[in-house]
Amino acid sequence: MSESTTLYSRLGGYDAISAVANNLVSRVRADARLGRFWAHRGSDGIEREVQLLIDFLCHVAGGPMYYTGRGMNLAHKGMRISEDDWSALIAQLNATLDHFKVPAAEREAVVGFVQSTKGDIVEA
Ligand code: HEM
Repeated sequence: MSESTTLYSRLGGYDAISAVANNLVSRVRADARLGRFWAHRGSDGIEREVQLLIDFLCHVAGGPMYYTGRGMNLAHKGMRISEDDWSALIAQLNATLDHFKVPAAEREAVVGFVQSTKGDIVEA
């Protein structure tokens, strides 16, 4: 595999990243610890958020999408997301990556990127 190939294409492009984002959001909404963050939100709002997550992940992985959403700090500010919430999110991310049998190198890149956003998201 060429070093110059983008993570976006190594992950399988738009459809694969979209499937990962949908799987992850379904898991976190059903998670006993995390579900409260999405309680009582309308389905249209959630669909828009999933689309922004897809665009964000595709964009940072080197795909051709332009991310029109907010930065991670602004988007999560005031939610009081804690260390324990973060651990639950990472456990669900690993379950998603297991589900799609993402190879080790790509998996490490995805988890590494998500971990790099922690300082902007965890605040309590
Ligand atoms: C425990 C961790 C997290 C929780 C509880 C959480 C929760 C949420 C919630 C409730 C929203 C909707 C905000 C709104 O409609 O105003 C949101 C938006 C979003 N989240 Fe998270 N999130 C977490 C971690 C992450 C991570 C790790 C990423 C990406 C690496 C991410 C990416 C996004 C994006 C792209 C949006 C949409 C931004 C926008 O509306 O402009 N989130 N998150």
